Amino acid sequence: MIPDAYGDLRYLDPGIKFDKSWDEVNKFRTRDVICIPAIFKGEVMGVVQAINSNGDPFHESDIPPLENISRFIAYALYHARLYDELATLKGLEKEKAEFMRVLVHELRSPVATAKMLVSTILFTMKEDPQITPSLTKIGNRMDQLLILVEDILHMSRIKSGNPLGEISVFDLVAETNSTFEKYLEEAGAKGLDMKIKLPDRPVKVRIDIHGYRLILSNLISNGVKYTSTGSVIVSLKQNNEWAILKIKDTGMGIPKNDIPNLFTEFFRATNARKSQIIGTGVGLAGVKELVTRFGGIMELNTEEDKGSEFIIRLPLS
Ligand SMILES: Nc1ncnc2c1ncn2[C@@H]1O[C@H](COP(=O)(O)OP(=O)(O)OP(=O)(O)O)[C@@H](O)[C@H]1O
Ligand SMILES: [Mg+2]
Repeated sequence: MIPDAYGDLRYLDPGIKFDKSWDEVNKFRTRDVICIPAIFKGEVMGVVQAINSNGDPFHESDIPPLENISRFIAYALYHARLYDELATLKGLEKEKAEFMRVLVHELRSPVATAKMLVSTILFTMKEDPQITPSLTKIGNRMDQLLILVEDILHMSRIKSGNPLGEISVFDLVAETNSTFEKYLEEAGAKGLDMKIKLPDRPVKVRIDIHGYRLILSNLISNGVKYTSTGSVIVSLKQNNEWAILKIKDTGMGIPKNDIPNLFTEFFRATNARKSQIIGTGVGLAGVKELVTRFGGIMELNTEEDKGSEFIIRLPLS
C-alpha cells in the first residue's frame, strides 16, 4: 500500500521510483496505490493495481476484496498463457504435418513407377518358376507400400488443416454401401461374416464425402484386419439429430490400458504389435480428427479377445 506515489518510496526498496510518464500523457495525478500480486498455483502471474481510492485513502480493509479480484485475474492470465502455448503447438503440429506431406508425396512417384515396371515385366515375360513368384511378391509389397504412402499422405493433409474436398450435403447410404463392398473379398478370404444394415431413407449430412470414405474405410479395414473369426457388421441409422454409423467386430479387441492412447498417431495396441498384423497406427488418429472436424462424436466399446464396436455420430444437415 502506497499513500502517495510521488512521495519518497525508498522505504519500500532503495531503487524504487514512481514513473510519472503515464500520468503526464494522461494529465493525471496518481495519489495512493494498492498493489496485490495475482497468484495462481503458487506462481505470480501479474500484479493487480488499484489507484486513487474514492474518498478516504486505501486501507487494510481494502486488501481482501482486491485479493479476491486478483485471484480471478490470475486464473484468467493463466488460461490466456495456456491458450498461447496451445496455439504455438498447433502451429508446429501443422508445420510438421506439411513437411510429412511433402516428403511422402515425393516418395510416392518413385514407388508407383517401380510398381508399374514390375507389373510390365510380369505381363510381358514368359512365366519362369525361378523369377515369377519373387517378382509377384515384390509387386504385392509395393502395393502395400503405396497404400501406406497414401494413408500417411491423407493423414498429413488432414493434420495440416487442408480441406480434403468440397463440403456439401451428401446421402451417406450409397457411400456406406460402396465402401463396404470393397472389403467383401478380403473378409471372404478370411472366412469372416460381413453384414451391412442400411436404412430405407436417405441419411443426409453436410460433409466432405472423401473424408467420410476415409473414416469408413479405416474402420472397416481395421475390423477385417483385427478379426480372425466371426463377423464384421456395419450399420447406419439416424435419429432426430445424428447419423449413427457403427462398425462392430468379433476380433482381438483392445486392452484397457491402451484405450487412452488409441487415437494418437503411430500408436498401436500391445496385442496388435505382438501379432503378425501389419499397421502404422495412423488410421484412427485421422478418423478422430475428421469426425471432430465434421462436428461429430466418436465412441468405442471394446473388450480384449471379444471384439470392438466403433460408433460415430455425425450431425444431420
Ligand atoms: N477393430 C479393431 N480391433 C482391435 N484393435 C484395433 C481395431 N481398430 C484399431 N485397433 C487398434 O488400434 C491401433 C490403431 O489403429 P489404426 O487404424 O490407427 O492403425 P493400424 O491399423 O495399426 O495401421 P493403419 O494406419 O495402417 O490403419 C491398431 O494398431 C490396433 O492396435
Ligand atoms: Mg488401421
